[in-house]
Amino acid sequence: MTQSLSDIRADIARQLAEGAASRRSACHTPVVGTADADMRVMVLRAFDPDSWTLRFHTDARSPKAQLIGEGAPAGVLFYDREAKVQMRCRGEGRIATQGETVDAAWAASTNFARRCYLGAEPGAISDTPTSGLPDWAEGVQPTEEQVAPAREHFALLLVTLREVDWLYLSNEGHRRAVLQVPAGEARWVTP
Ligand SMILES: Cc1cc2nc3c(=O)[nH]c(=O)nc-3n(C[C@H](O)[C@H](O)[C@H](O)COP(=O)(O)O)c2cc1C
Repeated sequence: MTQSLSDIRADIARQLAEGAASRRSACHTPVVGTADADMRVMVLRAFDPDSWTLRFHTDARSPKAQLIGEGAPAGVLFYDREAKVQMRCRGEGRIATQGETVDAAWAASTNFARRCYLGAEPGAISDTPTSGLPDWAEGVQPTEEQVAPAREHFALLLVTLREVDWLYLSNEGHRRAVLQVPAGEARWVTP
């Protein structure tokens, strides 16, 4: 394999963009880690190639949103089995609940997706198995008016990446590189 470090940086950006754009991409559902040693699968919604910011949608009341708040370290882990590439992305996370980007993301969501933010807060204790949704909202596509109260619970998790630890698996010898992003130092390291 004769890829240069700058080719690898470009490939990573391409994979992240594809992960956001395609449900079929292995990079569509990465694991998002927080500094409390917790982690969870989330759907990657967007990748901004200028700032290297990843966008996720979440509930503003969830433990991860509470923990990250206006700024906290966040890790995002991708494994593309077909490409044989692991990407351990490290950066700064923040939760946004107001502003143009949040409004635009809400406007682009379906009422079915918006419905997820209607119910009790994530992690609320229940005596019975529950979706958390009000009974009337179970299994239906609600109207615009019915989902309007959910908007206040909707949040973006934005993770601005600083560094990517890239690992390529190969029988001829694995390769690993650590790259600052969007630009900066890039170096080979032992896998
Ligand atoms: C395939 C899959 C996709 C998910 N996508 C999201 C998502 O986009 N946003 C989200 O908040 N939770 C998503 N979840 C649920 C989270 O993994 C997690 O259970 C939930 O957000 C509560 O996390 P917390 O307790 O750390 O706040 C997804 C779970 C799976 C299995």
